[in-house]
Amino acid sequence: MMSDQLTIALSKGRILEETLPLLAAAGIEPEEDPEKSRKLVFETTVPGVRLLIIRATDVPTYVQYGGADMGVAGKDVLMEHGGEGLYEPLDLRIAKCRLMTAGVAGQAPPEGRVRVATKFTRLAREYYAAEGKQADIIKLYGAMELAPLLGLADEIVDIVDTGNTLKANGLEPRETIAWISSRVVVSRAAMKMKHERLQPVLDQMAEAVSRKE
Ligand code: ATP
Ligand code: PRP
Ligand code: MG
Repeated sequence: MMSDQLTIALSKGRILEETLPLLAAAGIEPEEDPEKSRKLVFETTVPGVRLLIIRATDVPTYVQYGGADMGVAGKDVLMEHGGEGLYEPLDLRIAKCRLMTAGVAGQAPPEGRVRVATKFTRLAREYYAAEGKQADIIKLYGAMELAPLLGLADEIVDIVDTGNTLKANGLEPRETIAWISSRVVVSRAAMKMKHERLQPVLDQMAEAVSRKE
C-alpha cells in the first residue's frame, strides 16, 4: 500500500555521512553504499523505505512537492527555501556551522551601499534590510570567497565552520546571521497520511541524537 512506502531525501557529503548512523539507529540502512554508486534511489534493509540522493538545496523542494516524504537539510537551505509546506520535527545537531558575513581582512565595510555576493540571496536581502543597510545582492553558486578579492563584492554571506576557508582566501568573518545545524523535514501531506509509519522513525532518530550528546 502507498502509505506503507517511505521515501527519504538526503544529499551526498556531510549530511549523508552523519545521517546514515542516525537512520541505522531506526533500523534503516541502504542496501549499497550511496557514496560509491551512481544510483539516485536506494532500497534499504526495511521493505518500502528508500533513500533518494539529491542536491542539498533540492531536498526541501522534493519534500514540499511530495517527491519524498521526509528529508534532511541544513537550516541555511531551509531558511533560504522558505519552508512552505514543511514541518521541521527534529534537529539532528549535525553539520553545525554559522551563516556569516565576511569581507577582506582589515578592510572596513563601505559606509553606503554594500555589494554582497552569496548563494543565499533571500537570507542576505533580509539580513541587510533588518540592519538598515542598503545592499546590492549578487547571486553566485559557489566559491563566494573569491568575490571580494576580485572586486566583485564588498562582502559575502556564506557558511563558516572553522574559518579556515575565509582565512586561506584573505577574508575575515564579520557578523553571525544564524547558527546552523541540519534538520529533519516532513511534508504536511506525509505527516497526515503516514504518521504511523513516520513517528517511530522520528522517535528512534531523536533517541540516537540525544545519546550522542
Ligand atoms: P552543493 O555541493 O550541492 O552545492 P552544499 O555545498 O551546500 O551543496 P554540503 O557541503 O554537503 O552541500 O553542505 C550541506 C549542509 O551542511 C549545508 O547546507 C550546511 O548546513 C552544512 N555545512 C556546509 N558547510 C559546512 C561546514 N564547513 N561545516 C559544517 N557544516 C557545513
Ligand atoms: C563549506 C562552505 C565554506 C566552508 C566553510 O564548503 O561553503 O566554503 O565549508 O568551512 P570552514 O570555515 O571550516 O573552512 P565545503 O567544504 O562544503 O565545500 P563546497 O565548496 O564544495 O561546498
Ligand atoms: Mg559544501
